[in-house]
Amino acid sequence: MPLIIKDEYPEKLFRDDGKRLDGRDKTELRPIKMDVGVVENADGSAYLEWGNNKIFAAVYGPREVHPHHLAKPDRGILRVFYRMTTYSVFERKRPAPGRREKEISMVIADCLRPLLFLELYPGTSFEVFLEVMDADGGTRCAATTVAALALADAGIPMKSLVTAVAVGKIDDELVVDLSGIEDKAGQADLPCAITWFNEELSLLQFDGNMNLKQMEEFLSLAKTALSEIYQIQLDALKKKYIEIQEEVSGGNS
Ligand code: CDP
Repeated sequence: MPLIIKDEYPEKLFRDDGKRLDGRDKTELRPIKMDVGVVENADGSAYLEWGNNKIFAAVYGPREVHPHHLAKPDRGILRVFYRMTTYSVFERKRPAPGRREKEISMVIADCLRPLLFLELYPGTSFEVFLEVMDADGGTRCAATTVAALALADAGIPMKSLVTAVAVGKIDDELVVDLSGIEDKAGQADLPCAITWFNEELSLLQFDGNMNLKQMEEFLSLAKTALSEIYQIQLDALKKKYIEIQEEVSGGNS
C-alpha cells in the first residue's frame, strides 16, 4: 500500500464497496506484529509493525543519570526519546528532533510513568528510545504500545502494560486506527491510551470536530480496539518465555 504523498489526498476515504481505502472495515485494525528482545545491547527491547509503521523500542535502566544534575535524590527518572528517521516519511524529515518529536516524547513518557515504581530507584534513570523507521499514521500510539513491551522485556517491575490506539472520523463515519492518509484527509483524530492496572486513560489528544454523542461512541470503539491490541502485546511477551522454556527443556533432553 503506498504511503502518503503530500497534497495528493483522495476526495473520498471510502471505496464504493463501503470499505476504507486499504480494504478495512470501520472498526478493523491494521495488521499488527510485535516481537520482544530484538536489540542485543539494550536491557529490554521490542519491535512493532503496525500497518506500514515500523518501530524499534530499546530500554536502558535503572542506570546512572547523564547529565548528573537531572538525577532526583528521592526517585528515578524516566526519559523518552521518540525519533522519526529521515527516511521514515515521504518528504525527507530533518534529522534534528523537532517540536513534534519533543511533544510526542513527552506524551509517551506521561503514559509510561504511571506504570513504574520510580520511587524505588532514587538517583537513577530509565531511558526509552523509540525509533520510527517507517511512518504511516498513529506512530505516537504505536510507539507507546511498543515502549511498554520493551520495559516489560527489560524485567522492570511494572503495574501493567499500557496500550494506545487512534480513533477518528473520516467522511462523517467513526473509524478505528487511522492510517496516515485518513489522519491527514479525515475530520477528526483522537489518539488515546489505557493503563490496564487501573483502566484509566493516560493519553487523550484531539484534533478535529465531533459532538458529545460521537465522543462516547469513540471511546467505546477505542476500548474494544485497545483490548484487541493488548492481547497481541501479551502474546508477544509470552512467546519469548515459551521459546526460552523450549530451549531449556530441549537442552535437558
Ligand atoms: O504519527 P502520529 O499520527 O502519532 O502523529 P501525527 O503528527 O498526527 O502524524 C501523522 C502522520 O503524518 C505520521 O504518522 C506520518 O506518517 C506523517 N508525517 C509525515 O509524513 N512527516 C512528518 N514530518 C510528520 C508526520
